Amino acid sequence: GRPASPRLSVIGTGYLGATHAACMAELGFEVLGVDVDPAKIERLARGEVPFHEPGLPELLRTHVESGRLRFTTDVEEAARWADVHFIGVGTPQQAGSSAADLTYVDAAVTSLAQAIDRDALIVGKSTVPVGTARRLTGLVAEVRAAAGLPGDVELAWNPEFLREGFAVQDTLTPDRLVIGTSGPRAEPILRRVYARQLAAETPWVSTDLETAELVKVAANAFLATKISFINAFSEITETVGGDIRTLADAIGHDARIGRRFLNAGVGFGGGCLPKDIRALQARVSELGLDRTMRFLAEVDDINLRRRERVVDLAVEMLSTAHGHEAAAAGPYGGTTTGSGEEVLNGARIAVLGVTFKPDSDDVRDSPALDVAARLYSAGADVRVYDPEGSANAAARFPRLDYVGSLDEAVEGAELTLLLTEWQEFREMDPEAVGGKVADRLLIDGRNVLDTAAWEAAGWAVTGLGHRFDP
Ligand code: UGA
Repeated sequence: GRPASPRLSVIGTGYLGATHAACMAELGFEVLGVDVDPAKIERLARGEVPFHEPGLPELLRTHVESGRLRFTTDVEEAARWADVHFIGVGTPQQAGSSAADLTYVDAAVTSLAQAIDRDALIVGKSTVPVGTARRLTGLVAEVRAAAGLPGDVELAWNPEFLREGFAVQDTLTPDRLVIGTSGPRAEPILRRVYARQLAAETPWVSTDLETAELVKVAANAFLATKISFINAFSEITETVGGDIRTLADAIGHDARIGRRFLNAGVGFGGGCLPKDIRALQARVSELGLDRTMRFLAEVDDINLRRRERVVDLAVEMLSTAHGHEAAAAGPYGGTTTGSGEEVLNGARIAVLGVTFKPDSDDVRDSPALDVAARLYSAGADVRVYDPEGSANAAARFPRLDYVGSLDEAVEGAELTLLLTEWQEFREMDPEAVGGKVADRLLIDGRNVLDTAAWEAAGWAVTGLGHRFDP
């Protein structure tokens, strides 16, 4: 007859692991989530998701209640029980270096390899530098030979492409599944795990370990490059004039280019794109390929320059409104120190959005939080409102004034900055907001507002990628 469904464990219950565990339970599997953090495990076992992700709390609660999804801090329990172990621990940027920190991946794989006493698969999902999976294959074999453990343990790599805010959807209906294997057993087992996606004709890319690892970083590097590409053109249109949105629309009509990820603005942030392009550069340098990914240093630079540009633009707009000589000499020639700080000092500024993108409470490497912090450091009186991100932002940068509503944020503001394009901000009424602020001055840092409608309501609006004409 049909073999029993494989039992799954997921090691690491952060963003990736918790989502994967709940979605695998949704697919009908028995799942055990494992984490070293007892507080996190306790919350998950009660059916609580410790971060903001639409749809995930419902899924988690349903399957915790049905008993299909359980949580433990005991990796040995998982080693004895499961057939397939997914590794979903973090690979953050190392302190003081651009390379990825592999401590957690190594620890997870080692502790499993030391405890598995049966046939099993270890399937990496974390984003790792190319060569990691091959090294881990050797490590697993060594550890098991030394301990004389029974059973055959095979390693595979199955990178994750989920986006925050769409994590459940991206896991259940991914654009593709990439499976890198090092032996014969992984592929048939993973075809059973992902049977529903295969039935839905999700593209299935079966490959080696190195390709699987590289697909992940190549995808993120490409996305980051697309964003910085359009943001580099913003520097041009900000200088000579032109409309960055129209430019993006027009090149995007070419199917070879595509419109997505060409939204100009304050740039990319989050826990993935910035660290992944840095880790990729560090890895290829280790491989002796110093020039190969050098363009990603430019991608990173262009991205970080956007944050400076918003601050410069704030100075220019406030200076103009207050009738000062424009403090900055020009977008890229000028310096805003000195006179810039004078203009910002004490200025009431409303910052709308602090997360790295909407529908997330994540503020890791958030351009919005960075800009708010820079304005604060220059002496501005910054009031921040974000529908979900204030608690995380306050934990990182407590000195900003976080308020609970849009109205409170804009009350008496001399300048309003839209930095994360939450739906609530896209839908703002220029008249209503105008009635609260001290001055109708707005920077659209995400190019999402209907500038003409705001101007018709008496606002001076500048978007990134548009020339500021005082
Ligand atoms: C990204 C990738 O999109 C996922 O495919 C990948 O799985 C994930 O990283 C990961 O490696 O785990 P995520 O970090 O959730 O997902 O965020 P994105 O939606 O990619 O946005 C990244 C940043 O780019 C955000 O700050 C966003 O505001 C910015 N962005 C995006 C732009 O500035 N312009 C755009 O046109 C698109």
